[in-house]
Amino acid sequence: MTAKDIKHPLRGIRNPLLPAVLALFAFSVNAQDDETLTKQVELEQAPAPGPEGYHQPPSLDDIPEGPFGDSVRSGWQAFVNTRQHPEAKRFVGNKQNCGNCHLASGLAANSAPMWGAWGIYPKYRGKNDHVNTMDERIRGCFTYSMNAGGSEAGGPPEPDSQVLKDMQAFFFWSAKGAPIGENLPGRGYAAVPKPENEISVSRGEEVYQDQCAVCHGNDGSGKFADDGRQIFPPLWGAGAYNWGAGMHRINTAAAFIKYNMPLGKASPVEKEAALTDQQAWDVAAFINSHERPQDPRWEGSKASTDEKWHTHQCLYNETVRGHTLGDGAG
Ligand code: HEC
Ligand code: HEC
Repeated sequence: MTAKDIKHPLRGIRNPLLPAVLALFAFSVNAQDDETLTKQVELEQAPAPGPEGYHQPPSLDDIPEGPFGDSVRSGWQAFVNTRQHPEAKRFVGNKQNCGNCHLASGLAANSAPMWGAWGIYPKYRGKNDHVNTMDERIRGCFTYSMNAGGSEAGGPPEPDSQVLKDMQAFFFWSAKGAPIGENLPGRGYAAVPKPENEISVSRGEEVYQDQCAVCHGNDGSGKFADDGRQIFPPLWGAGAYNWGAGMHRINTAAAFIKYNMPLGKASPVEKEAALTDQQAWDVAAFINSHERPQDPRWEGSKASTDEKWHTHQCLYNETVRGHTLGDGAG
């Protein structure tokens, strides 16, 4: 953290309850590990693939037997069935699995694959002024995309805990043979140029009703089996990613949607799209014009949280359909 980032959340408060408030604050810092509560940095764009195409991860059928293979298998399960995995589920504060935004078990090119991430960390980031480890990156996705603050554990997994080791064993295994320290083709999501026309939430709503609601539901709450297993993930409301997650940025959601959705029509690996750039941006704006769990970096008001953390392309603290977004949902 830079000096500028260090907050004095209680500065100026004169209140007889101050000691109690301070005690509460200290508790919440413990419960919600502070290290992830920094600026979430957007990924840089990956280069286009050469004639050899994208990295080919090994087949999931070829995970070896033995203790290493067991760890890889556990990490894979924690990734795709996060809400069912005995360890990982304690850190899920919404109704998402990691694999919802990282398709094909986190192995598909242009769907932020884990083999693309593996060789990038640890990485120094000027914006949060420290070396970001893979451990911390995963805990960040728990904090925001999985809303860990609302989970049984009350925050992301402890650094170096078994579930983080297992996930990293899985990522390491999937990156076998890929070069280290390179921004590989297929890493992250492929950016979609911003269309010339204005982005329209109401046009986005039409796209949503036509092409998305059948799976994600008219109210964006997804679909679940009787035993609670997820069939289609929620996109907004209490079960969705929170206001601090990368997916709440319209550009990031448009990049994900363009080559990944509608499921079965778009193809990330073939880089085939079903939507135009305009439709991808419009529907990304529509999805992100709904309430979702609060930003864990909440600064006390929508305006101050907006000013400090939302200086990017998003609708936090913007007024849409007569409502100023950012109240949270929980
Ligand atoms: C709601 C969608 C969503 C969910 C759920 C999600 N992620 Fe992510 N993840 C993203 C986005 C978006 C990015 C890209 C970050 C950016 O550009 O801000 C990302 C980036 C990452 C990266 C870094 C990729 C790179 O190439 O640097 C890792 C690692 C990662 N996620 C792991 C996880 C894990 C582990 C989980 C579950 C605990 C998870 N993600 C759940 C959306 C999600
Ligand atoms: C055939 C069903 C289906 C259709 C149609 C569909 N989706 Fe999805 N969508 C899914 C599934 C399933 C996932 C999770 C993928 C996984 O876990 O492998 C998903 C994931 C997502 C995510 C990831 C974010 C999250 O929070 O989980 C977004 C955003 C999304 N879809 C948007 C859209 C949009 C926009 C459309 C319409 C243009 C659309 N989807 C159409 C099934 C569908």
